[in-house]
Order: sequence, then structure tokens, then C-alpha cells
Amino acid sequence: MEKLDNVVELTHPLLQHKITMLRDKNTGTAEFRALVEEIAMLEAFEALNDLQTVDIECETPIEKCMAPVIAGRKMAIVPILRAGLGMVNGIQRLVPTAKIGHIGMYRDEETHEPHEYYCKLPSPIEERLIVVTDPMLATGGSAIDAINLIKQHGGKRIKFMAIIGAPEGVRALHEAHPDVQIYIGHIDRELNADAYICPGLGDAGDRIFGTK
Ligand code: PRP
Ligand code: URA
Repeated sequence: MEKLDNVVELTHPLLQHKITMLRDKNTGTAEFRALVEEIAMLEAFEALNDLQTVDIECETPIEKCMAPVIAGRKMAIVPILRAGLGMVNGIQRLVPTAKIGHIGMYRDEETHEPHEYYCKLPSPIEERLIVVTDPMLATGGSAIDAINLIKQHGGKRIKFMAIIGAPEGVRALHEAHPDVQIYIGHIDRELNADAYICPGLGDAGDRIFGTK
């Protein structure tokens, strides 16, 4: 698809390899969950490459020096339930101090419209870098509504991380929230009539949690 400001499609071969394993219909629940976590960590490594650092004094076995650590600004990871939960541990392994919020959304099977059923965000949210996670960006409705909600609560600096997106969803999210940086493992071909991503990986929530 066309290049959009603030949309980063990640191309690292290790990431692409793991996404292919994820797509495979024969990949079982335990492996699927582990892959989602690993992919989230690899994506976060790239998505967080603009974190500010500050130099602190540090004493090595040899001598004292000034060396960088991540600067004060706090981070919140906000998974969109359910499937976004699968990405949290991978990011938290890189940033163990991040607080976790939760937004519950489900898509109506007929209309494909998102419905919110839960929202709990770390307070205060205004000063935090907020990383919203959901493996699938299909029509974009769930991500758009989740980010609307975060902004209504005062969230300002927001990044969105997905594993697979459809061009339709990427465009819709970018149009609704041009200020939000979108990181995505792969942009697939299209949505089908049921608003599933093709070729995609099926239903991410069902595959992470073993429901069907
Ligand atoms: C899936 C997925 C996203 C949403 C994407 O969740 O995890 O949240 O659909 O679709 P959209 O971009 O068209 O809104 P689903 O509603 O199936 O809920 P679940 O995670 O509880 O299975
Ligand atoms: N949600 C999913 O889990 N998969 C899709 O392909 C679309 C929405």
C-alpha cells in the first residue's frame, strides 16, 4: 500500500519469519502465544527507539563514568482485550516498570462494529507514553474507538502496535488519529466479506486463548 506518515511496517527477517509461523493453521495455542510475545518484544524494540535517555553516574569495576538510562517519562501499555493481552509480556520484558491499562472491545459478528465493555487506565495518564496493543488491525474500528477513549481520559502521546493489518484498517486508523504512530509487523492484502484479514492468521483471540 501507499506510504503514510507515522506508519511503520517492520521488515526485520526474524520478525517476518515468526509472523509466518503465526499464520500457519497448524501452529498450536502454546506456540502461538509464545510467538505473539516474542513478536511484540521485537516490535517494541523498534517502536521504542525514540525513548529519551539521561546520563547518570555509574561505577564499573574499573572506574566511574557517566552512562545513559531511560529518562523519567513513565510508560503505560494498554492492550485491547482480548487479543492485545498476548502482546503485553513481550513489551513488559523490555520495560518492566510500565503500568498496564485494559480496554475491552468486541466486534459485532454481523455489523463488524466495535463495542466497548471495559476501560481501566493507569492514573494519571496525561504524562505517560501510551503503547496500545492489538495483534489485528482489520477495519480499524476497535483501535480507533480504543484510542478515542484514551484521549477522552487525557492520553496524549500514543503509539499503536499491531502484528498484522489490512490496508483498509491502517488507512482508517491513520485518518482518525494522524498523531498516533502505528507500528505493524506486516500489512496484508485485504479484508474479506466477514472483515477478516487475508491471508491473515484467523481469529487472534481464539488462537491465543484456545477458544473456538
Ligand atoms: C479482534 C482483534 C481486534 C479486532 C480487529 O478482536 O483482536 O481487537 O478484532 O478488528 P477491527 O479492526 O475490525 O475492529 P475481537 O473483536 O474478535 O475480540 P477478541 O479479541 O475478544 O476475540
Ligand atoms: N480479528 C481477528 O482476530 N482477525 C482478523 O482477521 C480480523 C479481526
